[in-house]
Amino acid sequence: MLEIQGVSLTMDEGQTVEILRNINLRLAEKKIYVITGPNGGGKSSLAKVIMGVYPPSAGKIFLDGQDITTKTITERALLGLGYAFQNPPRFKGLKVKELIKLAASTNPDKLNIGDLLHDVGLCAQDYLDRDADASLSGGEMKRIEIATVLARKLRVAVFDEPEAGIDLWSFQRLAETFKFIHEKYETTILIISHQERILDLADEIILIANGEISEQSDKDKILNKILKDEDCCSSQCEKGVIQDAEFAG
Ligand SMILES: Nc1ncnc2c1ncn2[C@@H]1O[C@H](COP(=O)(O)OP(=O)(O)O)[C@@H](O)[C@H]1O
Ligand SMILES: [Mg+2]
Repeated sequence: MLEIQGVSLTMDEGQTVEILRNINLRLAEKKIYVITGPNGGGKSSLAKVIMGVYPPSAGKIFLDGQDITTKTITERALLGLGYAFQNPPRFKGLKVKELIKLAASTNPDKLNIGDLLHDVGLCAQDYLDRDADASLSGGEMKRIEIATVLARKLRVAVFDEPEAGIDLWSFQRLAETFKFIHEKYETTILIISHQERILDLADEIILIANGEISEQSDKDKILNKILKDEDCCSSQCEKGVIQDAEFAG
């Protein structure tokens, strides 16, 4: 449904930097994909290329067979591509229900905002009339942002590190929310994350390092590989030597 063909991204910051190299991906309908990998690997850049923030230096992007490579962010949004920010913006002077209504304005279906809030784990009576501003915690704002994504009835929703800035308790509930909306809604979900709980939700995990896809397969295979890499690292670490060194002085 979303297809990325041979996408590369270079930037000119005095010198040319290669950020993404020959990325090929095909996302199917109604699945959860999780992109993971080391910091600086190119995950957020890929999300931005998909959303139209950065034009790719090579390659093409298709949504439902339509070439969207040169479409603007707004055009892509109208075609059903949505991006959730790492730190959701706050809106002074706007109530939660108004924010969700605004998001729903491109969706022809009638929506019950209370139900949407319920689906993201928030009690409607407590939140409908609250200001969508800094008085909300990071976890609450994240949920409200997911509700706006659901209200838009997107084809593909991209979440960049949804775990950032929220406490462990809220995070655990957030992972459950992703699982629930995945079961109830048609949207294909692409999540950038390092969290095992999120990796565990994936139909497929995509590993990106040094601007390239180094691995793409179902979650069990990749989780095994990641764990094996950890074993490999610890076998090189000579514990006894370090203890001796500590006691030597
Ligand atoms: N606008 C930019 N200009 C120059 N370099 C950038 C820009 N955005 C990202 N980069 C570089 O591209 C690489 C990948 O960054 P990013 O996509 O944010 O990685 P990740 O999200 O995997 O941590 C990094 O080395 C980063 O410094
Ligand atoms: Mg990033």
